[in-house]
Amino acid sequence: MLEQFDKTGKDALAELRQVADGSALEQYRIKYLGRKGLVTRMLSQIGRFPSEQRREAGRLANKVKKDVIEAFERLKNTLQQVEQQKTRQLVDVTLPGIVPVAGKPHVITQTISELLEIFGRMGFAVAYGPEVEDEWHNFVALNIGPEHPARDPMDNFYIDDGTLLRTQTSTIQIRVMEKTRPPVRVVAPGRVYRPDTVDATHMFMFHQLEALVVDEGVSMVDMKTTIDQFIRAFLGKDTRWRFRPSFFPFTEPSAEVDLLLADKTGKEAWVEMGGCGMVDPNVFDAVGIDNEKYTGWAFGFGIERLAMRKYGITDIRLLFENDLRFLEQF
Ligand code: DAH
Repeated sequence: MLEQFDKTGKDALAELRQVADGSALEQYRIKYLGRKGLVTRMLSQIGRFPSEQRREAGRLANKVKKDVIEAFERLKNTLQQVEQQKTRQLVDVTLPGIVPVAGKPHVITQTISELLEIFGRMGFAVAYGPEVEDEWHNFVALNIGPEHPARDPMDNFYIDDGTLLRTQTSTIQIRVMEKTRPPVRVVAPGRVYRPDTVDATHMFMFHQLEALVVDEGVSMVDMKTTIDQFIRAFLGKDTRWRFRPSFFPFTEPSAEVDLLLADKTGKEAWVEMGGCGMVDPNVFDAVGIDNEKYTGWAFGFGIERLAMRKYGITDIRLLFENDLRFLEQF
């Protein structure tokens, strides 16, 4: 009988070594330490021994029980730690998710899309041109001669002799007319570069929207009507604007377009938005379009100015600092 106790103890410890996870451990507990388990039963058998062996049987049974329980608890702790380790690495799918930040187009990009859409409704196609230009497209073909102050190297970002960052999107007028014969009806958005000192209303880089219409019998009335329609569509039908006589080498006559703006105190002032005019016959000559047969008009508006007016932005630098607290408002 005593050998049987000894064997039960050895078997129990041997079997415990095979236990590798929590559910096997629970099976083990029931088999050996449960109410009807082998170790538990062993203890209840002590009373059956003859009285002279009972002490010895009790001692042995309790030692077996103690050894088995100790080994069992040790393994239980180890398995619990392994389990915790595993769950720590798992994702808790019941937690609220991290909402991904969806980006959106920059306010200038949004503005360009809106401008193109308005002019698209009026039948204008869209053209683009390179930001690195030659002097022919930036000056010569636009009737800006070698003596013109705009050609001063100090007023341009020259890359090398004869190559510069374009200072105006009017370059695209030339590129379009070199490739397409009238009728022409295009708008052309893009970046332009000027070495201006940066302040609330100036940047060394900004965007313009160019427009060009060439056909037989095109007049200044067409230009005025189109600009008026555009300003009403973009800024609201009560917006006040005016033509102011001006000069550009590539238009004759030329005008500037001013918007009436109220500042914070309600004081109103005319603010220039861009230039326009009837295409100069010399420009048609440069691109080989018959200036007896065709007339045209063009404009170039500052896109930042339009956006600033529309959204009440008072400092152009905010548009390019990329501070999300500002950009997220649009
Ligand atoms: N290119 C001129 C500028 O950047 C703006 C301009 C004036 C564009 C008259 C035109 C125009 O197309 O007809 O100052």
